[in-house]
Amino acid sequence: MAVGRRSSMALLVVLAAASAMSLTLIPATLAVTSPYVRPPARPTLPLLQVPDDSDGQAPQQVHISMVGPDKMRVSWITDEDAPATVEYGTTSGHYPLSVTGSTTSYSYLLYRSGKIHDAVIGPLQPSTTYYYRCSSSPSREFSFRTPPATLPFKFVIVGDFGQTGWTETTLQHIAAVDHDMLLLPGDLSYADFIQSRWDSYGRLVEPLASSRPWMVTEGNHEIEKLPIVAPTPFVAYNARWRMPYDAGTTPSPDNLYYSFDVAGGAVHVIMLGSYTDFAAGSPQHEWLRRDLAAVASRSTAAFVVALVHAPWYNTNKAHMGSGDAMQEAMEGLLYGARVDAVFAGHVHAYERFRRVYAGREDPCGPVHITIGDGGNREGLAKRYEEPQPAMSAFREASFGHGRLEVVNATHALWTWHRNDDDVAVVADQVWITSLRANPACNKNRSEAVVESE
Ligand SMILES: *[C@@H]1O[C@H](CO)[C@@H](O)[C@H](O)[C@H]1NC(C)=O
Ligand SMILES: *[C@@H]1O[C@H](CO)[C@@H](O)[C@H](O)[C@H]1NC(C)=O
Ligand SMILES: [Fe+2]
Repeated sequence: MAVGRRSSMALLVVLAAASAMSLTLIPATLAVTSPYVRPPARPTLPLLQVPDDSDGQAPQQVHISMVGPDKMRVSWITDEDAPATVEYGTTSGHYPLSVTGSTTSYSYLLYRSGKIHDAVIGPLQPSTTYYYRCSSSPSREFSFRTPPATLPFKFVIVGDFGQTGWTETTLQHIAAVDHDMLLLPGDLSYADFIQSRWDSYGRLVEPLASSRPWMVTEGNHEIEKLPIVAPTPFVAYNARWRMPYDAGTTPSPDNLYYSFDVAGGAVHVIMLGSYTDFAAGSPQHEWLRRDLAAVASRSTAAFVVALVHAPWYNTNKAHMGSGDAMQEAMEGLLYGARVDAVFAGHVHAYERFRRVYAGREDPCGPVHITIGDGGNREGLAKRYEEPQPAMSAFREASFGHGRLEVVNATHALWTWHRNDDDVAVVADQVWITSLRANPACNKNRSEAVVESE
């Protein structure tokens, strides 16, 4: 037994070393389809236990999201009525500051949600650990670290989580790496109409989502619309995952799309909505134009990244073409504003493209990356278009997560970490350099922005 374990550890080390080496051996111009084959998807986890809660006032499913440069929204649920109060401070067990927010709840078929609270706390100091408790409940103390106000800035990016054994592995790998914020391009719980699964998902992600801001946008699994009995889309998602759409430099009218700045404005993040109207003239399209124009006029924004659910570039046979209409409506706007990278989910695999625009490689277009590999119950998307087009730099059907470390105003390091059973293996890595700092892409930028408007 012990020998067997030791030899499989040795094998892992060899595999990790081999995959690290293969990185340096991949010629920059080659399109690579990784030969790695992972076992089938793991089953959905049983519904997680509710914490001991005799008075129904224990906070659960706690998560936080950034609001403007120095505030944080705390969101949580209690089974029974409880005050929407967050008490906080910089010392454990001592909460000199307090904010009371608001409470909502929703019904879906026969399901009645708990009391869903949120309160916005701040102003907060950057890079500082705060301790807090919710609903004045002495039962649980939480803590988070605020993001830094300057570069470097470390994002974790991963979509299509679900709540399986693979999700758990992904979360463990994320927990083991220092990061400032998590970005999620849609498909959170895979509740798929069974509302108690939103609750179990909230409990599953709470250890991470209560300690770093989780900024999410919606996927198709968030829609949960049914004819006649549930005609309103996004009921659970909007109630449970309220994002700062009405804050920031360009407030949006809808929780389904928004943008925000981090690192003192050095990075601008645009969360687009793949499942609400995006056509020219729609509120989302108008809002995006305003947002990009505002960013273009700001010299402090070194990097601009966008997230969508359905990918605009994809050589996987799963969901091929599902982002085409949105690409047609919005790609020109992002290109004109020199957006550096676009991250998508939906396809349950990893794929990184070179810089592309209008279906072709373009040195001034964004890097497109599909990162829908959080670990959901639908399993992996393994069938690819062959031969691999040259614009697709690397693709692999494995679960894992991505990290984007914006090092300074010109350089960001992207790495993709496969969940190789017990260790997070770096399987793909590339430097992304800021397009705004690239003179070749900015000779006629103001012209390009005007043109696309
Ligand atoms: C930014 O970071 C890159 C990568 O570490 C480095 O090569 C470059 O010199 C840095 N630029 C500045 C201005 O420090
Ligand atoms: C700049 O403008 C020229 C002529 O309009 C165009 O051909 C070129 O693609 C543009 N470059 C960029 C980076 O937009
Ligand atoms: Fe999806």
